[in-house]
Amino acid sequence: MQTYLVGGAVRDSLLGYPVYDRDWVVVGATPEQMLQQGFRPVGKDFPVFIHPDSGEEYALARTERKSGKGYAGFCYFASPDVTLEEDLIRRDLTINAMAMDDEGNITDPYNGLRDLQQKVLRHISPAFSEDPLRVLRVARFQARYANLGFTIAPQTVRLMQQLAQGDELEHLTAERVWQEFQRALGEDSPEQFLVTLMQANALVKLFPELIPAVNDPHTLTAISQPADPRVRFAILLRSAFAKSPSEQRNQNIRTFCDEHRTPNAYRDLALQFCSHLDQLCNYPQLDAIQRLELIRNLDLLRRDEHLKLLFQGCSVICNETQSVEQQLPQLIESLRQINPKALMDQGFKGKALGEAIYRTQLAICQQQIDGVL
Ligand code: CTP
Repeated sequence: MQTYLVGGAVRDSLLGYPVYDRDWVVVGATPEQMLQQGFRPVGKDFPVFIHPDSGEEYALARTERKSGKGYAGFCYFASPDVTLEEDLIRRDLTINAMAMDDEGNITDPYNGLRDLQQKVLRHISPAFSEDPLRVLRVARFQARYANLGFTIAPQTVRLMQQLAQGDELEHLTAERVWQEFQRALGEDSPEQFLVTLMQANALVKLFPELIPAVNDPHTLTAISQPADPRVRFAILLRSAFAKSPSEQRNQNIRTFCDEHRTPNAYRDLALQFCSHLDQLCNYPQLDAIQRLELIRNLDLLRRDEHLKLLFQGCSVICNETQSVEQQLPQLIESLRQINPKALMDQGFKGKALGEAIYRTQLAICQQQIDGVL
């Protein structure tokens, strides 16, 4: 039996990118031989095994045939007779279909190296269309490598368009689609993910709500700035629902996040960002009541871990953010110093205590405006 490193690990090591995940292909072995060597099977009927020490995935060389709709609709054939070339041809892109043996020799039957050098994302064969997830994968790879000068081969774009024309994309689970979107949001050029989906006529199927945002060049520039993926997501949703009144916009954001199974951390930041961006950008003009209201609405006295992310978003959208970035944390810190016990010792309790705390808070906000904090 012979093992080869395959897929993204070969691609990224040749590009000089860090490799986080290593996948291996085993040629010439049976499941029984793998078990004898201590590998653990991943599933009952799937020819993939986990290495007992490294925990990495080793798949028996296999061929695949589409047997149904969507991502999971495959039947495969694994046997010791399946060659490395046969295993590699079922894959999505030429640059993902290279294998490296343990001496560093590359097997490259589909010209992945040439495409890596020419910076082209190119499908290997018409079998590309057997997996609709690949439309999203290509868009995500474009988000990752566009800054290196990568483009998508026109024939591959055409295949993606054909895939999008049918009903295949509708069979992908929301979780799988979100997973690709989330990863793309963390890449160097996240806007390329959306632009590519638009080009493939897939955006209208997958994220129709985002079309206004993707048609807006300012939004595309804004999300391409270095920022946390949650911030980029919030900027996108703000733009997507910019035309809705604020109550409706918040409802739209909730619905979008429910439908796309977005984690709460993404949804909550988007809601906070959309509701409070104007106040954050105009912080120097806010009076004491408005400053306190902002802090209370964002619950910043109890938890301010979102603040850094909100500032990241502001710095992309607002002209000037130095004042808010300096003054808001300073005000939060001062408000946290208020000691309710001292007020209780002065005889305040119940509702009167709450009012005394509020008055003290307002006075501190006013001190900041007067420059005496
Ligand atoms: N693959 C494929 N079609 C898919 C998913 C995966 O052809 N829908 C193949 C590709 O050869 C890919 C390999 O399986 O390189 C490993 O897939 P995966 O680990 O999901 O992605 P990587 O290509 O390794 O890329 P990433 O860096 O995004 O993990």
